[in-house]
Amino acid sequence: MGKAVRKAIFPVGGLGTRFLPATKAMPKEMLPVVDKPLIQYAVEEARAAGIEQFIFVTGRGKTAIEDHFDYSADLHHALISRDKHDLWKLLEPTMMPAGQVAYTRQPEPLGLGHAVWCARDLIRDEPFAVLLADDLILSAEPCLKQMVELHGKVGGNMVAVMDVPREHTSRYGIVDPNPGAASERRLVEVKGLVEKPHPAKAPSTLAVIGRYILQPEVFFNLDRQERGAGGEIQLTDALADLIGLMPFHGVRFEGRRFDCGDKVGFLEANIAFALERADMGSQVREILKSYCG
Ligand code: G1P
Repeated sequence: MGKAVRKAIFPVGGLGTRFLPATKAMPKEMLPVVDKPLIQYAVEEARAAGIEQFIFVTGRGKTAIEDHFDYSADLHHALISRDKHDLWKLLEPTMMPAGQVAYTRQPEPLGLGHAVWCARDLIRDEPFAVLLADDLILSAEPCLKQMVELHGKVGGNMVAVMDVPREHTSRYGIVDPNPGAASERRLVEVKGLVEKPHPAKAPSTLAVIGRYILQPEVFFNLDRQERGAGGEIQLTDALADLIGLMPFHGVRFEGRRFDCGDKVGFLEANIAFALERADMGSQVREILKSYCG
């Protein structure tokens, strides 16, 4: 039912003030979880979901991201001449095939909706994914892949959702779910959506996590450049306006999500991902025990 999802937008224009001083001269998306930058996790997740066009919406001071996803002749030469083929192999996922990556700038930080709108001419008239690198998801099957599979059945707009404590609703887009059963396990029908509601006013505790599959019609609403919560142009508002005009679902994805826009969430992600690693998991477990025992 849903058309194939071939393009993905990565909004990476944010200033990263919550991680200062680390992000004074380095994009926050380049912060590593264990040994891989946050943005690389997002790109690999998109690739695993079948994405072929990677569109980054960047801003000032973000050139390290472009360099990261580029071929480095110097590094290639240096590693191969020293017989470090294994290290060169590690870099393979960072090299994007020519013509499959595009960068466009968001001239001013006017909100997530505005960042997505900046990529409208690169998306044109087809469904697309949006991935927020701050939301890192540890799962057996990549989160966006889970969504693409379900999207093939129901089409329309789709967001990843998870339950959060009620006192946290003002940090997220919150879904008003239709209590009737959706057609698939894990799917929630969305009948309303509100950005960062006060806990007392939130329609539920089901929060939008930074994975979206959207229809290009959302650009018509974003074209209006209306300001919402926090004075920003909100993606949430543009999506809410499409409810009733096309299907809209939340996906209760399988996996554990880490809020890497938050220092403690970021540290937790490092621990969780390190514990999963065959080359260091048991060592890290012993170290943690020595601190907590
Ligand atoms: C953005 C969205 C929000 C969503 C969140 C997920 O907020 O506006 O609806 O719930 O991402 O991480 P931000 O975290 O950019 O303030």
